[in-house]
Amino acid sequence: MRRTVIAANWKMNTTPLEGVSLIQNIFEKLGILKKNIDVVLCPPMTHLSQLGNILHERPEIQLGSQNVHWEESGAFTGEVSANMLKECNCKWVIVGHSERRQLFGETDEKVNKRLLKALEHGLKPIVCIGETLEQRESNETFHVLTNQLEWVFKDVLTNEDDMQFVNNATDIVIAYEPVWAIGTGVTATKEQAEEVHLFIRKFITDRFGKSFADNIAIIYGGSVNEKNATELLSMPNVDGALVGGASLNASQFKNIVNAV
Ligand code: PGA
Repeated sequence: MRRTVIAANWKMNTTPLEGVSLIQNIFEKLGILKKNIDVVLCPPMTHLSQLGNILHERPEIQLGSQNVHWEESGAFTGEVSANMLKECNCKWVIVGHSERRQLFGETDEKVNKRLLKALEHGLKPIVCIGETLEQRESNETFHVLTNQLEWVFKDVLTNEDDMQFVNNATDIVIAYEPVWAIGTGVTATKEQAEEVHLFIRKFITDRFGKSFADNIAIIYGGSVNEKNATELLSMPNVDGALVGGASLNASQFKNIVNAV
């Protein structure tokens, strides 16, 4: 059975001190978590070391980064390596967020390289894909997503001799984040989300088989809040949420986690 993943993307919000108080607030609000759910917090990089220490006390809540570089180390100003993240107690990493793609020149090729590096190091990648409003309105959604998915899975599971790598590949989480729904207050309807998630699952099934596809969590992101979470999460192929704005409020975030 695949797990449910509720991930908080804090983006470039909160100072390190504010991050500590937010996480303490989240601890207080979230009681004991249900067994089959992963709660992941992805704060800015300046917070990772300190929050990673704090999270040793609550290992059921996990830490994620908002990026990772595809090289081990070197002259890559402004980037972060997988080893740096692991030393900070990070278990997850977001790659290919549409803000990275649209504002910082992230290409499909770089997204794939980051994902492969994360898998190599046992970091669980949350890979974001999604269409713009213009693409949806001109009926290009499935074409755009197919292209993004081709890139996401490029060179994944090509070397089946490497069992560790094959095992890690089931840790990939796909986040369907329609660009028109991010930070806009406009959410995909539960039917729109389910339609796309089913399409993504079919793509993975055709490529890697049903048992692999059934294990991959496909989560939805884009203006998820405490009001719409229950109905989105009730859909059979919506396996969780990537939450931006609403994750900065501990009680809203708790309500989203409890909607699972
Ligand atoms: P939002 O952001 O919930 O504020 O729309 C989601 C995301 O960008 O991951």
